[in-house]
This record gives sequence, C-alpha cells and structure tokens, in this order.
Amino acid sequence: AAIRREDYRPPDWLVPEIALDFQLDAQATRVTARLTVRRQGAHGHPLRLDGGGGLLPVSVSIDGEELHDAWRIDGEQLVIDLPGDDHLVETIVQIAPAANSTLMGLYASNGLLCTQCEAEGFRRITFFPDRPDVLSRYTVRMEGDAALYPVLLSNGDQLDAGELPAGRHYALWRDPFPKPCYLFALVAGDLSANRDQFVTRSGRTIDLGIWVREADLPKTRHAMASLKASMAWDERVYGREYDLAVFNIVAVSDFNFGAMENKGLNIFNSRYILADPDTATDADFDAIAGVVAHEYFHNWSGNRVTCRDWFQLSLKEGFTVLRDQQFSADQGSPAVKRIEDVRALRAAQFPEDAGPLAHPIRPDSYIEISNFYTATIYNKGAEVIRMMKLILGDEGFRAGTDLYFDRHDGQAATCEDFIVAMEDASGADLTQFRLWYTQAGTPRVTASLTTDAPGGRARLRLSQSVPTTPGQPDKQPMPIPLKLSLLGAVSGAAMGGEHLVILDEAEKEVTFDGLTELPVLSINHGFSAPICLETDRSPADLAFLSAHDEDPFARYEAMQQLMLDTLVGAAKGGPVDHTPVIDAVRNTLTDPALDAAFVAEAVLLPSEAFIGDQLDAVDPEMVATVREALRADLGTELIDEWRDAYARAHANRYEYSPNAKGMRRLRSVALAFLAAAGAPDWAELAFAQYRASDNMTDRQGALGVLANNDAPEREAALADFYDRYAGDALVIDKWFTAQALSTRSGTVEAVEALARHPDFTIANPNRLRSLVGAFAVNQRAFHDPSGRGYRFVADMILGVDKLNPQAAARLVPSLGRWRRYEPGRASLMRDELERVLAVPGLSKDVFEQVSKSLG
Ligand code: ARG
Ligand code: ZN
Repeated sequence: AAIRREDYRPPDWLVPEIALDFQLDAQATRVTARLTVRRQGAHGHPLRLDGGGGLLPVSVSIDGEELHDAWRIDGEQLVIDLPGDDHLVETIVQIAPAANSTLMGLYASNGLLCTQCEAEGFRRITFFPDRPDVLSRYTVRMEGDAALYPVLLSNGDQLDAGELPAGRHYALWRDPFPKPCYLFALVAGDLSANRDQFVTRSGRTIDLGIWVREADLPKTRHAMASLKASMAWDERVYGREYDLAVFNIVAVSDFNFGAMENKGLNIFNSRYILADPDTATDADFDAIAGVVAHEYFHNWSGNRVTCRDWFQLSLKEGFTVLRDQQFSADQGSPAVKRIEDVRALRAAQFPEDAGPLAHPIRPDSYIEISNFYTATIYNKGAEVIRMMKLILGDEGFRAGTDLYFDRHDGQAATCEDFIVAMEDASGADLTQFRLWYTQAGTPRVTASLTTDAPGGRARLRLSQSVPTTPGQPDKQPMPIPLKLSLLGAVSGAAMGGEHLVILDEAEKEVTFDGLTELPVLSINHGFSAPICLETDRSPADLAFLSAHDEDPFARYEAMQQLMLDTLVGAAKGGPVDHTPVIDAVRNTLTDPALDAAFVAEAVLLPSEAFIGDQLDAVDPEMVATVREALRADLGTELIDEWRDAYARAHANRYEYSPNAKGMRRLRSVALAFLAAAGAPDWAELAFAQYRASDNMTDRQGALGVLANNDAPEREAALADFYDRYAGDALVIDKWFTAQALSTRSGTVEAVEALARHPDFTIANPNRLRSLVGAFAVNQRAFHDPSGRGYRFVADMILGVDKLNPQAAARLVPSLGRWRRYEPGRASLMRDELERVLAVPGLSKDVFEQVSKSLG
C-alpha cells in the first residue's frame, strides 16, 4: 500500500506533552507513556496511536482510569474513542531491546541500550502518533541497574538523578523544545565522556560531551574539535546559535546509517566519531568532520524547523547536506571538496536518477519511507539548494534562510515553505525553479560554440532535455544555471570574465562579442548545475582547458571529460589514441603551481561504473579492459613522472593538514600507477610503504594496491594487517573491504569465503557493508559472467531481511540496475531479483525495492 503526498491531512489529535518512564532491562523493558492529547478541529475521529514491531499494550488508561474495552487494535494501531477534546492517555507496554535486530526503536548494542527513531522507530517503543507534524514537550524518566547502566542520557537537560534500592538508579530529563517523536533518544550504558565547553556568541556556556567506551576516549579528539568548529561556523555563516545548555554525542557500534540528530543527544555510528592517525584514514577524518557538522546543523535545519511529513525529507536533508559541504569546504580546500562531492553525486545519485528507483527530491509516493533516505533526497537535494543560492546570490540566499528560520521556528514545514521564504526575502520568482522538486532524472545539456573569425562574435547554442523516468513520461524544461567563460585559445585567459547563463528553455542561444582571440568554451564551473553535459569540444580543447582553466573544478572536469571520451570511444570499439590523455596527465603532474591534492584528483581515471553509465548494454569486462589499457599506458609512458611524484609526496611525519593530506593521496595514486605499469619494484615499494608508514592513510593505500594484484607481499600484508588490528572492528572492516574491492581474479570466491570468516556477521551494518556493500560496487567481481556474484548478493538480501530490513533493502539497487547491462548479465540479474521476490514474508523495505526494480 503506497502512501501518497497529495493525501496529507493535518493530525486529528495533538500531543502537547508526553511523560515517559522506562524501567530498563535488555530482555524486557517496561515503558509507561502519559500523553496529554488535544483534539484538533471539529471532528469525531478516534485517537489513533501507531505501534510497530508487534507492540501490545499491557494497560491503557484514560484520565486516570484503566480501560478494558474502550480501545481496540486495528492493524498495528491502538484506537481509542475519546468523548471530549482534552484527555490524559496512559499506556504501558513491554519491549525486548536485546531481541531487536532491526536497530530501529530501542535496541541493545555492545551492552548499551540506545534508540533510533527516524523515521518510524518511535512506534516500536510506545504507542504514539508517529508523524513529524505532532510536536510534544518530552519529560523522560529512566530507571535501571546502576552497574550495567551507570550513564542514563536523554534529550534536553538533566533535572534530577539518584540512587534507588537494590542497586538501581534513575535519571530525569526534560527537553523544553517541542519536537516530533523521531527526534526522541535515550542511551543507557557504561560510557565515559570527553567533556568540553563552547561559549556561544551571546555568551552562554554549553557543556559538550562525547560518550564512548572508556578505552575509546583518546579517539574522540577530532570529533570534539569538529563539533566546536561546527558550532562557531553556524553562528558565523548562518547566524544560528545553539539553544540548550547541554550537547551530547554518543557513539554506538551497531547503527543502520551514519548518525542521528536527536535533540541535544546525537547518536552516531562509531565510524563517524572514533579516529586517530593509526586507525583512521584522511577520508575517515574528513567524513567525521562532515557528519559531526551535519548532525549539529540539523539542530536548526531539521529540529527547530522540522518536516511536516516525510515527503518533505529533502527540506531538512538537502539543506543540511549543503550546509555540511560548505563547512567542509571552508575547513580545507574548496576545490578538492567540490570535486569529491561531485564524484559522490555521480557515483550514487546519477545512477539512481537513471534507474528504476528514480524519484524527485520531493517524492510523490512511497511504500516504506526508509527506502527514501537516498542520494537523490540528500545529495541532489543539496545541489538544488546550491543552485538557489547561485541564482539568488549569497546575500539573497542568506536573507532567505534567515526568513525561513524566523518564520517557521517551532513548526513542521514544507519544501514549499522554504521556496516561498527564498522568494519573499529576495524578490526572485522561483515558479519554474520548482520543477527541480517535482521532476526526476538528470537533465542532459548540450553546448556548442561557434565562431566566425578571431576578433568577432561567438555563438553558444544550448539545449536541454530531461529524461523519462518511472511515472514521469513528459518533462518540462527546467532553469539550469551555467557558470561559464570563454578562454582565449592562445593566452588561456577568460575573455570577458565569468558569465552566469540560465538555460530555462529547451533551446537557447547566447552571443558573445568583442572576442580578441579564438575562444574555447569552459562551462559548468564549480558544477553549477547537476547535469550531464555534452559538448563538441575536441580532445585538444579539453587538454588545453585541463592546463589553463582558471576555475579549478572546470580544469578537473576537462581532464575527466578527455579521459571519459577516450574510454567511451574505446569501449564502443572506436579507434584508440591515448596520447592526448597521456600528454595532459604529464602536464598536470609536472605543473609546479598545482597542489598535490588537486593533482591526485585530476589524474584519477573515471570509475568503471561511471564509464558504464555512458554506455548502453554495459559489458563490465570490456569497460575494465579499456580502462586497464589506459592505466597501463599512463603508468608506462609516465613512469618517471610517477616515480618523481611518489618521491616528492613523501612526508616526514604525519600531520592532518590539507597539504599533508594531498601528499598522502598523491603518493598512493602514484603507487597504483607504478603497479599498473608493471614496474619491477612496485610490490616492494608498496610493502615498504605499508610497513614504514606511521598512519592508516598510507597503510591502507599500500594495502589496496597490494590487494589488487598478485604478489607474494599481498598475503603478507593482509595477514599483518589483520593481526595488527585484531579486535578493532572499524579497522577490520577495512580489511574486509580491501579484499571485497579487489580487481584481481578470484575475488568472487574470496568474498564467499570471507562471508564464512569468524569475524563476519550480517547483524552489524558496518561489517555487512564492508564486505557485501563493497563487493556489490566491484564492477568486475560482482558482474562475474557466471552470475555467482549476483547469487551471493541475493542470498545476502534474503538472509539480512529476516534480521534488518533496512540493511537488506540497501543491497537491492546494485541488482536493480539490470536493464543497463548486456543481455546475458541482465537476465542473470533479473533472475536473482525474481528469486528474491518469490520468497514469502519479505519486508516492505525489500519488497518495494525489488518490485520497483522489476516493474
Ligand atoms: N536524519 C539522519 C541524518 O541524516 C539519518 C536518518 C536515517 N534514517 C533512516 N531511516 N534511514 O543525519
Ligand atoms: Zn541529515
């Protein structure tokens, strides 16, 4: 049964106050909920409270009197007929956290009790109107064994705590801000805090705590520094100040996704908190800063202003992703950050937009909302708001966000509210822009520049088309903001500066006069619009741009396009000429003006998946072959340059700074090209790097290169890595991933064997992702022509679905893209999906993803 956006109706009953009492016990926790309910509007509808996961009431009372027959269970809802407009409803339920493998609601993780309520987990804890437009003030009392659960945390401020007989104790918390139930949280366990303070711009002192197992305390420094930097940044850039006296973060090891922004009590997957140089890579450190900022920023974009219904999810997620991207850009190199964000968009969102699960950033319907925490809602959502910022200008945009926060503080708002605030504050008309919220699919833009003669006029012809997506056969032209410039073909300078052209019709022509040289087109600077671009620029033009473009992103992009054109041409069986790419890469590698981080990004070949996305009827083996051929040529032809870059990028001592990070990245990229060249000493170099490094970035870089190739050092490094980090789950995840991503033959069999390794478990989402999630993006191994990789993933989907439907559903899209592959593979993939669909008792999560993928 699909839920539809147009069916939204305001709630019949509001719950201004809720008091919860938890008698904590891993096997059987008793939850008493006292709800002050108020009828909204004139209607005779009963009170309907959502329940989930087989929740059953032990008792129900109204206004202090226990009811025995005035309530009923309808599906999973508790339905109560209420005579008046205001009542006190009390329910008592019993739940079993230790038996909860879904990791939604209240569950046990490593001796800890913790919660995850977004989107619809609160209904597994108690009966409640589980929808984000019902906002309540929460008072939470927790009671439990003082030895097992010495720390008792919930949202807001702690009002009281104390000892009880029989070794028990309690704590009482109160959150003064009304919130939807998806922001409720509690944690009970044996935790230690890294404590610090932050003084807000208005002079209030906030107590900060990052709670982890005691042994992990030394690994919380980076997260704490990131938190304080985020708090200062949001004051400076968006004028947003923190509002409670306490801000706590808890790290847990069993968590379905990255982290959760519960009011005043963020709960994190431990991989986004714990880091030190020996066990976490630069990418891990960057991700921690980004996720800590993301969850903190939700305090305004998500909590103070929340969502009216789950169709508005991108209102908080798209906006908050943009905010965390801006924060990370300000902390390090903006150009490199933008390149990373665009790479992530192309890797995760573009395929989604081009496949059976395509949906607009504000979807029209869903079966299971958990399936809509997607790259489209998050990352394309961020791109859409970034475009608004570009169109309105920085000041107009800031005026818009100020008005939005001011106008909707304390409310459950819609995407439309956000757009209207932008319009009202800036005076802009965003009528046509709203299409970005309703139309799915990545627009295709073509750009063609013609010139009469030097010194004359240039004509830029632009056109757009938005592809058909499921349920959306006809599309309208959208406003596509393109930042561009014309570079002089001799000087390389931008003639007439940078232009912003809004392509808002199917076709548009723009002319440029007074050109002093023949122009070369540089377009979509900074990836100003999330589109697929086709131009008729020659390899020579692209090579020229890759050496001269003033916009670093466009410079990177020119190189990518040059590589992509070369690879796609070869995959289609066209003539192969690697020379322009080799020359351009040489140029970049030897340009002394470029920093290492940029160089490392610019010389990376487009991924096999992204090359495949440009083709029909993909043959992954063919894609891998043409890409390997270019890699090998680049390695061999530029062997001296790679050796040079490898030596140059050698850092003396570990330091976490943009420059040192860039050096480490370039070093491992160069090492991989030396291996691709078959340099006689590559394995020796890799093993030496592996052993000598004082940090995980270099060690994992070397391990990855070794894992991809057959050399005696491979087994030695993998064995050493395993022994060295035995017991450190986050690092053992890396050990699984290095093998699951391996490009060497025999990887399917190796991964099947790893699934039987004693350290493998499908119950922990990080471990599942480290092996099965990684394998499913390994183009060669997953798409093994035998179909064995598909069968392995389908078996995993079925096994995981019994424990954790969300985690199982996330594995479906890799098979769901079957239509993109050559007929042999496509039919093997489809067969596996059909096998899954035929199994009785599938979760809604898996059912929705599989049936839509086949449909
Ligand atoms: N709101 C959380 C975040 O973006 C993620 C919650 C994910 N929930 C889910 N059901 N997938 O930070
Ligand atoms: Zn979020």
